[in-house]
Amino acid sequence: MSHTLLVTGAAGHLGQRVISHLLDTLHIPAGRIVAATRAPEKLSALAARGVAVRRADFDDPASLDSAFAGAQRLLLVSTDAIDRPGRRLEQHQAAIAAASRAGVGHVVYTSMPLPEDSPLLIAPDHAGTEKALAASPLSWTVLRNCWYMENLFMSLPGALAEGHWYSAAGDGKVAYIARDDLARAAAVALASADVDRTTCTLTGSEAFSAEDVARQVAAAVGKPLDVVHVSLQDLIRGMAAATGWPEAVATVFASFDTNTRAGRVGMVTDDYRKLTGLAPMKFADWLATNKTALLG
Ligand SMILES: NC(=O)c1ccc[n+]([C@@H]2O[C@H](COP(=O)([O-])OP(=O)(O)OC[C@H]3O[C@@H](n4cnc5c(N)ncnc54)[C@H](OP(=O)(O)O)[C@@H]3O)[C@@H](O)[C@H]2O)c1
Repeated sequence: MSHTLLVTGAAGHLGQRVISHLLDTLHIPAGRIVAATRAPEKLSALAARGVAVRRADFDDPASLDSAFAGAQRLLLVSTDAIDRPGRRLEQHQAAIAAASRAGVGHVVYTSMPLPEDSPLLIAPDHAGTEKALAASPLSWTVLRNCWYMENLFMSLPGALAEGHWYSAAGDGKVAYIARDDLARAAAVALASADVDRTTCTLTGSEAFSAEDVARQVAAAVGKPLDVVHVSLQDLIRGMAAATGWPEAVATVFASFDTNTRAGRVGMVTDDYRKLTGLAPMKFADWLATNKTALLG
């Protein structure tokens, strides 16, 4: 199989790791890989290895025709444009339309668990993108990625400094998975010959409540960490005060807790092992590697 494989968002954290897995784990020749990004200048090391680096910006659909030309399989990395509801969906729709025009056969998309009818305020972009793929002429693999273990870097350093972790998630659990495992899964799906229309939910092997995480983190770093359960409104107010974010932005981030409380990211599946043949990294192993960084 000698398809040309294209990765969008190639300068992002996930995109860079996907390309690294294509090259160094799956040993795909660099000449079969296209790295598409808004910032080609950041990927000069990949260009030096023989990867084609092209400019692609979903906000500039005209850039996508030349960027996607010649690719048979494309990884559409969901963007981080969550500043305006619906903007990210417009970007993804532009990418899907351009992939169809360019003659791409198969698209792999990074979605989230249970995006339909979700209380998470950024979920409609993912649900809408999945619908756009279903309505397109393409075949696809939807990777419903559960939350990264690395997301804990956003909340735990501050929480550890104070000794308190504010949560509105109740006893809802999260089946965290390491971002690098998700990159490996995306690389495997992209490099496969699969031309079906399939959806997998990629999770870690265990799910943890905030208390479960706090207990393990406190033991690993040797500092106390109490979970303080608060109402959604108090979480929004506290987040806005601590960060200076407008209340609308804090409301979006607080909806992650509502989603967790509703049990929508606590499922543990075997899809990662089915796709890659490997077990996902254990949280305890991730923690052992990252405990110093969690102290900020
Ligand atoms: N499952 C989770 O826990 C979780 C956590 C955080 C984010 N995510 C989602 O997963 C995606 C990848 O995660 P990450 O860690 O790599 O995030 P990241 O490092 O913040 O990367 C953001 C990505 O968005 C792309 N992007 C932004 N605007 C774009 C545009 N106009 N056109 C094309 N691409 C655009 C960037 O591509 P270039 O810079 O290369 O152009 C980059 O790949 C995120 O963007 C977000 O949708 C998931």
